[in-house]
Amino acid sequence: MIERIAGRILGGLFAIMLAGAAVGVAQAGETAGIPPEMVAEYIHAVIQADRTIYSTHVVERLQDLKIPVAVEEWKSRGTLPLPAQMLQMTGQEVQGLGLGLRIRLASLGPIYKKNGPADQFERAGLEAVAKNPRKPYTGIITENDRHFFKAIYPDRAVSITCVACHNSHELSTKRDYKLYDVMGGIIISFPVQ
Ligand code: HEC
Repeated sequence: MIERIAGRILGGLFAIMLAGAAVGVAQAGETAGIPPEMVAEYIHAVIQADRTIYSTHVVERLQDLKIPVAVEEWKSRGTLPLPAQMLQMTGQEVQGLGLGLRIRLASLGPIYKKNGPADQFERAGLEAVAKNPRKPYTGIITENDRHFFKAIYPDRAVSITCVACHNSHELSTKRDYKLYDVMGGIIISFPVQ
């Protein structure tokens, strides 16, 4: 009796192991080529999470405490970088790794010209995500015979500090932003074969 039960348990375990092996094989096959759209989604998810957390849990919190924390001249004034400067610094760090991965923040009505669209693709992408923020604008671009997958995601006013600061900045060209408005785009690109 005990042997029969043990045999059944062993048989069951064997079946589970076989099923596991089958799943393992299927997964290995599926992950062999992750589509660039998905890679961009993963990268964007982390950037967006960091951007939201920095704006709401650092900048907004400190402003509530009346500590002027994030200012443009943060280095010389001994304060902390703006959310945009955090993202720009992330972009510089990542570029220094030599992976070909690039991250940038841009807008159609930027505070500084350097943050405007760099080309027609970026202009079209920023326009598209402003109209339909539910999906990124993507495409393959070629630079010096290298192909890059490029994705533009909407950059939303996730914190009231985004709105307050941009609406009052002396160089702002737009002063009627509201919470959750699309204020620009997060541009991600990386090489593909
Ligand atoms: C305390 C002020 C301040 C806050 C808070 C702030 N920004 Fe900005 N933002 C700026 C400044 C100044 C720049 C230009 C920085 C540079 O390029 O050196 C900028 C740049 C940008 C850009 C690039 C285009 C441009 O206008 O130059 C976007 C898009 C943007 N911010 C969106 C946001 C969003 C979304 C938030 C909230 C998550 C936010 N900003 C929070 C001041 C602020």
